[in-house]
Amino acid sequence: MTTVAMPTLSLYERLGKRENIEAIVEDIVAAHMINPIVKARFLPYLEQGEKLAHTKSLLVEFLCAGSGGSEAYTGRDMPATHRGMNISETEYMAVMDDIMEVLAKHNIDEETQKDMLFIGYSLRKQIIAQ
Ligand code: HEM
Repeated sequence: MTTVAMPTLSLYERLGKRENIEAIVEDIVAAHMINPIVKARFLPYLEQGEKLAHTKSLLVEFLCAGSGGSEAYTGRDMPATHRGMNISETEYMAVMDDIMEVLAKHNIDEETQKDMLFIGYSLRKQIIAQ
């Protein structure tokens, strides 16, 4: 029996490239704004339009660069970004829940959702209690 190698799409492609990643980031941030566990962390940014737009563009870059896109990430590393916030495990889980719900809503396939869960989980120690 011959096995035929299936063409493998990068995570970037499976997320729908930059255009869809931008839509995903919009929805993730919107979800954080109404998530009772973390909304207090994010609501103040609604009054700082420029700052919010910049943080969203950094999130887009982070996801694009980290998933195999050609975009460069120009933000800070994860410990530096979240330093002084003293983020709890519960808050980290709430953010991951928002991310996973948004990916499902965007009909991202299950394998890709698992990849994102793994990446998010692997970053937890750089984000919690910094
Ligand atoms: C897997 C989980 C997470 C990832 C991948 C992530 C990623 C990022 C990235 C890429 C930025 C922009 C970097 C920069 O400003 O230079 C950022 C900013 C931020 N993150 Fe996270 N984050 C995560 C979890 C969390 C959690 C759990 C919280 C709080 C509940 C949080 C709160 C924030 C806040 C408030 C900012 C804006 C920082 C500022 O004021 O400049 N993040 N995050």
